[in-house]
Amino acid sequence: MDIEKVNSMDFGEFVDVFGNVIERCPLIAAAVWSQRPFSDLEDLEKHFYAFIDALPPSGQEGILRCHPDLAGRELQQGTLTAESQREQSGAGLTSLGADERLRLEELNAQYRARFGFPFVLAARLSHRAAVPRELARRLHCSPAQELRIALGEVKKIARLRLADLLGVDPSRL
Ligand code: GUN
Repeated sequence: MDIEKVNSMDFGEFVDVFGNVIERCPLIAAAVWSQRPFSDLEDLEKHFYAFIDALPPSGQEGILRCHPDLAGRELQQGTLTAESQREQSGAGLTSLGADERLRLEELNAQYRARFGFPFVLAARLSHRAAVPRELARRLHCSPAQELRIALGEVKKIARLRLADLLGVDPSRL
C-alpha cells in the first residue's frame, strides 16, 4: 500500500485498517486520520507516536492497560486481537509448558501490582525464554523509567504492525 492510497482513505476505512496499530486503541487512528495528508509512511508513523507522546501520563498508562498480558487469560480464552495472537504465537508464547506459563503468570501479576498496568513487550522481537527474563529485569525499574520503556515497546509494536499493513520492511519506516 502506498501513501497515496492511505491519503485517499475515508475515515471509516482508515480506522478499519489502522485501528489496531496501537492495541485496542482505535481512537488513536481516528485522531491520526485528521492529520492527513501524510507525506510518506514515516510521517504516518510519526503521527501515531506524537499522539502518544502528547498524552498526560494517565492517558499513556491507559494505552498500556488496553494491552492483554503476554501468555495470559485472553490467550487461553482465544479472545486476543488477531495481531496480538500472531505476535504472541510468533514468540512461542502459545506453546509454553505449564511451568513456564505459571512463572509468567506470577511475574505478570507482580509487575501489574508494582506499576498498575500490564507488562508490554514487542513480542515479535523476543522469544519465549527471553520474555520472563526481561519482565524480571524491568520489575526493578522506577515507575517513571518503566512508563517510558513500556511506551517505547508500544511504539515498536506499532512500527511492526504498520510495516505489515503497508507491505514494507520495518527498517524502511
Ligand atoms: N507485545 C506484542 N503484542 C502484545 C500484546 O498484545 N500484549 C502485550 N502485553 N505485549 C505485546
